[in-house]
Amino acid sequence: MKFVIATGLLLLSCTSGFVTPHYKSSSALNGAKKDTYEVTLLPGDGIGPEITEATKVVLEKLCERCDFSLNLKEALIGGIAIDEKNDPFPKESLDQCLASDSVLLACIGGYKWDTNPRELRPETGLLKMRKEMGLFANLRPAKVLPQLLDASTLKREVVEGVDVMVVRELTGDVYFGEPKGIDTDADGQRIGYNNMIYSESEIDRIARVAGDVASKRGGKLCSVDKANVLDVSQLWREVVTSVIDKDFPDVTLSHMYVDNCAMQLIRWPKQFDTIVCGNIFGDILSDEASMLVGSLGMLPSASIGEDGPGVFEPCHGSAPDIAGEDKANPLAMILSAAMMLRYDLSRPQEALLLETAVEMALDANVRTADIKQDNDKCKLIGCKEMGTIVADLVETIDMPSVEEEKIAV
Ligand code: IPM
Ligand code: MG
Repeated sequence: MKFVIATGLLLLSCTSGFVTPHYKSSSALNGAKKDTYEVTLLPGDGIGPEITEATKVVLEKLCERCDFSLNLKEALIGGIAIDEKNDPFPKESLDQCLASDSVLLACIGGYKWDTNPRELRPETGLLKMRKEMGLFANLRPAKVLPQLLDASTLKREVVEGVDVMVVRELTGDVYFGEPKGIDTDADGQRIGYNNMIYSESEIDRIARVAGDVASKRGGKLCSVDKANVLDVSQLWREVVTSVIDKDFPDVTLSHMYVDNCAMQLIRWPKQFDTIVCGNIFGDILSDEASMLVGSLGMLPSASIGEDGPGVFEPCHGSAPDIAGEDKANPLAMILSAAMMLRYDLSRPQEALLLETAVEMALDANVRTADIKQDNDKCKLIGCKEMGTIVADLVETIDMPSVEEEKIAV
């Protein structure tokens, strides 16, 4: 594991199975190590409360063992916030998040709110949170774990060794572009439209995050766009090229059209190291990349801004079909907590302990339903039991060693 400070950015890379390079702007590092942290927990909807409970059990053990405290305070987001406050991300929640050292989010959404008007949909709360907290960079790692190789729908030789990081721009693009709406034209026909729009500065800052991430990984960055058709993509390509050429001489930059990238990810994913793309392409490609790993249930993500707390959350959704049945996989949320410990709480040792405990739980041949294979000789367990097993491991395993140079920062 390496811990490096590069021009204004802090990055971590690690050889542990789950850990991928991390980005945080230096201004957010004021929170050097503390004894007590304020953390906002957003359990959200569907399986959210169950995986949050399992993660809390693990974090309690971690705090006991490592002698620090997390003041975990819940807040509302998503469907539950609509039900209770008629707002998918109420101001109280935003204020609480901004006043915290970090935010750990489970997942949002469910059938119940699917037909609500846009302003009263759970997804709107998530987008509001990203925008208002300035979380412009979303890191979505997809690393295939040897323990779960057969959980992928692709052939073993295609996925073995895959380790891709999707750096997705998160606060711009057609998601937030204006004008947007549904109007009626002169003939009385309804017209729906959104605006795919990026400014140079938005492209510049995400290109820098991606350049930095790539330089601490395999040094290969693939920028994804649709520059053969879209003007916004042409600007994207120009700005990314100029940032990487000028300021990241060690990074080899390539460009790929989004349709080709979608195909190449399935055909030969090992060609990719770090991918950078706009918000909507990143939404689609990160789901695709995550399935190379076999289950969305394993993947953490980090959403980071220039400063202030980041938001750490599993890549998966709220799985309303299994909510409340103790079938969910809490590991992505536990791994998201590990990312939080490393980025926002300056606790790399504790992050590594969590990640090691998760790997050891898999080595102990226990599986939740999403990662259980026929004939894998593993025991099928529920969400709660998985949490308890990881918590017990956190309590008992040898403390993994973090090299001194990493702790020094
Ligand atoms: C994601 C999700 C969200 C997105 C939805 C829930 C708004 O798909 O985080 O990838 O589109 O960004
Ligand atoms: Mg998505």
